[in-house]
Amino acid sequence: MDKKIKEKFDILTRHNKEALQGGGAKRIEQQHAKGKLTARERVELLLDEGSFEELGKGVTHRSNDFGLDKEHFLGDGVITGYGSINGRLVYVFSQDFTVLGGSLSETHAEKIVKIMELAMKNGAPVIGLNDSGGARIQEGVVSLGGYADIFYRNVLASGVVPQISAILGPCAGGAVYSPAMTDFIFMVENTSFMFVTGPNVVKTVTHENVTAEELGGASTHSTKSGVTHFACANEAECISHIKTLLSYIPQNCEDEAPWLPYTSGDEKRTQLNDLVPANPNQPYDMREVINGIVDENSFFEIHKNFAENIVVGFARLAGRSIGIVGNQPASLAGVLDIHSSVKGARFVRFCDSFNIPLLVLEDVPGFLPGTDQEWNAIITNGAKLLYAFSEATVPRVTVITRKAYGGAYDVMNSKHIGADLNYAWPTAEIAVMGAKGAAEIIFKKEISEAKDPEAKLAEKVDEYTTKFANPYIAASRGFIDEVIFPEQTREKLIRAFQMLENKVAVLPKKKHGNIPL
Ligand code: HXC
Repeated sequence: MDKKIKEKFDILTRHNKEALQGGGAKRIEQQHAKGKLTARERVELLLDEGSFEELGKGVTHRSNDFGLDKEHFLGDGVITGYGSINGRLVYVFSQDFTVLGGSLSETHAEKIVKIMELAMKNGAPVIGLNDSGGARIQEGVVSLGGYADIFYRNVLASGVVPQISAILGPCAGGAVYSPAMTDFIFMVENTSFMFVTGPNVVKTVTHENVTAEELGGASTHSTKSGVTHFACANEAECISHIKTLLSYIPQNCEDEAPWLPYTSGDEKRTQLNDLVPANPNQPYDMREVINGIVDENSFFEIHKNFAENIVVGFARLAGRSIGIVGNQPASLAGVLDIHSSVKGARFVRFCDSFNIPLLVLEDVPGFLPGTDQEWNAIITNGAKLLYAFSEATVPRVTVITRKAYGGAYDVMNSKHIGADLNYAWPTAEIAVMGAKGAAEIIFKKEISEAKDPEAKLAEKVDEYTTKFANPYIAASRGFIDEVIFPEQTREKLIRAFQMLENKVAVLPKKKHGNIPL
């Protein structure tokens, strides 16, 4: 080999081996001291051993302003390439905070764009490990342009390949909008934060005193804002969750999620029979219903701590990946409100984009009343969930376990908006509203004129309950395909999803719909 070529090759391979953390040993130590791994350690932990192929490790920045001429770091603060996770191809970028704070230069952005385009052409997920001070300040508009180049690819790739973001350090300013447009965001407690304007700006503008963690840490975004889907205890847990998530989803929009081998056996689940309490006002945990139905230990919950009145996540049923949306009677009686509608809608749209069948478990007393909800647009936000279900063409099955009241009955994957199969347990109550509210309205005059209004109300509540608080009228109209015993649910669903395996549904020709945003 030519000596010069050999020298260059040695520099690159040494650089590769010693890890690209161009900032040097001290900066790596600083990274570790914060409880953070280095960019390369993260890639190694994420990918199958020996599978990583790095691209663009010789790239350096082009700008020479404000001291950037002094040192050019190979790779320019981001490691990019491809590899595999459990044998399946993925594309990865991992920002290196030890190089100029992982800041995004023109060339750093070009490297990310390159792997995003490869991912789209070759149909495999993109995983972004974000740890960056944002746009490289010394570079000015070219770094802003670099961000916009990435945002644009995020949108082009949306619905084509799954996009996953792990926030493993700072992510501030406009930089937050790339992860925000990906499908799932992971954060790590105490070491990652996301905000559009940081604590100092907040203090100047609104006079609020808030720490970075309070303003945009993992707990905040997993509970209050819902920006992140997962708040992980540390980076190892974060990476492990990413791998688990990938196991439920396909490589691209034309692929199917992996099936696990499954041998059918006794599918009866008697433990489901006693889960719904006799008293309709008593809560129970919908997760117990989910776990009673799906393959053992297969439920992987998404967005667990946000809008807890709806539960969403992936699971396997007879080895096949499904998406589950369940009202949660254990939180706010399972009502639909703004946050739960948005959470549900986003999940439904992901599943529909990537051919993952949907199971809906319904126990919903209606939409949450109040000025807070109305003034913050429960109308528009509730419509998102309605729109998302209506638009979904994947196999869709609903089981009504108890309440299905009012508009929420329609919204929660009713037959009328295109669900394929709708089941109800004998405990189902399907009506315009709860019996008491209904009796008070339609028998108002009769009750007020009665000698004993309270007794009259009770009588009318009883009458309304007998007539409507059951699934049989809906079944007689065909809105419910079958009233089933809880213990039969798993078997019925396995058969239902098998029957729907080759479903083809075509929406009217259009450029795209206009979901009420
Ligand atoms: C260039 C940067 C940088 C940046 C950090 N560094 N951010 N260099 N451009 N954006 C450098 C620092 O100068 C420092 O270099 C090294 O990275 C480590 O940074 P520290 O400040 O020492 O680290 P830390 O104390 O952990 O603080 C991290 C931080 C802070 C919170 C991210 O660095 C910070 O506030 N950075 C600026 C953030 C910012 O305003 N970015 C622009 C956002 S606007 P030396 O050599 O001194 O060690 C944006 C627009 C996107 O991103 C627009 C898209 C539409």
